[in-house]
Amino acid sequence: MTQGGPDYGTLRGMDGQPAGLLDTLGRPLRALRISVTDRCNFRCGYCMPPEIFGPDHPFLPKDQVLSFEEIARLARIFAGLGVDKIRLTGGEPLLRKDLSHLVRDLASIPGIRDLALTTNGAGLKDLAAPLKQAGLKRLTVSLDTLDPDRFRSLCGTEVPLSRVLEGLSAAREVGFAPIKLNCVVQRGVNDDEAEALAAFAREQGFTLRFIEFMDVGTTNGWKLDAVVPGVELRAKLQARWPMEPVALAKDAVARTWRYRDGRGEVGFIESVSAPFCGGCDRARLSAEGRLHTCLFGAEGLDLRAALRNGSSDADLAALVSARWKRRDDRYSELRSSATPGLKKPEMSYLGG
Ligand code: GTP
Ligand code: 5AD
Ligand code: SF4
Ligand code: SF4
Repeated sequence: MTQGGPDYGTLRGMDGQPAGLLDTLGRPLRALRISVTDRCNFRCGYCMPPEIFGPDHPFLPKDQVLSFEEIARLARIFAGLGVDKIRLTGGEPLLRKDLSHLVRDLASIPGIRDLALTTNGAGLKDLAAPLKQAGLKRLTVSLDTLDPDRFRSLCGTEVPLSRVLEGLSAAREVGFAPIKLNCVVQRGVNDDEAEALAAFAREQGFTLRFIEFMDVGTTNGWKLDAVVPGVELRAKLQARWPMEPVALAKDAVARTWRYRDGRGEVGFIESVSAPFCGGCDRARLSAEGRLHTCLFGAEGLDLRAALRNGSSDADLAALVSARWKRRDDRYSELRSSATPGLKKPEMSYLGG
């Protein structure tokens, strides 16, 4: 069992050590990504195209979104099942009022050794300090361009790029390190900025990760032509800054390379050209409390209903455990010309 977490009995082996919860492909449950809201103040075309997510878009009503108490209760149960890593996502998680209160609760759960957050950075200037104080360990900020005009059109927001850059500085000042930058690359859109973004990250001490544009959801107009394979970007950067590969953890999402001049690392998240489902130990909880075992998995298990009908912790743990044991997801490995058309959850709903 995870040290100090609740004991669900059946999960212990004869030796008192965790029997381990494995899916049908032998993958453990280790990471939980929690979406705290399906709302966002940006409208990035690859995630929430403005023509789809307009003023009348039916976001989740408040009473259907999990409360902090419900999230923390579920997180404790997941910790008891082997989760030691939590990431808060959205939509934009910083839009959720008093998020640092939730961070404080999650940080105190025995067994949770890593607590991270993915944000668009707009709210960081004000919130970096309280989040750090509450016990948030790591930060990832989305940054697709360094050009203010391009930023406005790519991100579909009136929030200026300078606000995000100020947020990054604030986060660094309060001691977040390393801070990761997520850059979704689209051919003909921002691939011309790869070197400029890498240079910026190297100078500022951030860890940049280039992400291949993915066919998440059904609204972002994904086309294979728009994907820039990591290998192509790597070659571009290598020509300017020699790099060497860093040995990868089994559950790694990003393939990481180290600059030989000591200026940090750069990552490539190649879900399209080099899928990493084999080590995928991630469960996802939507803002309304549905458990998805894949970013592309349409069917979520309704944990909110169980939470709100008086189920005990052991009942909830049994539900999650049974679901994980049946898991056979490996969408990115099975991606074909037919799969982009399948029903899939939006990333703004399920989290990045
Ligand atoms: P660390 O906890 O810092 O190691 O984070 P990470 O490397 O897992 O990256 P992060 O959680 O910031 O995810 C970065 C991006 O990778 C996400 O926004 C997604 O675009 C993509 N991603 C993350 N997890 C998955 C996954 O399980 N499947 C796929 N296909 N893409 C993922
Ligand atoms: N492809 C790849 N990554 C995406 N994200 C959102 N939509 C996509 C997509 N279509 C990721 C970005 C962003 C995070 C919140 O979600 O990394 O930083
Ligand atoms: Fe909002 Fe992040 Fe999606 Fe952009 S990628 S629309 S910032 S949730
Ligand atoms: Fe995991 Fe699904 Fe992503 Fe594969 S496609 S890495 S199974 S979330």
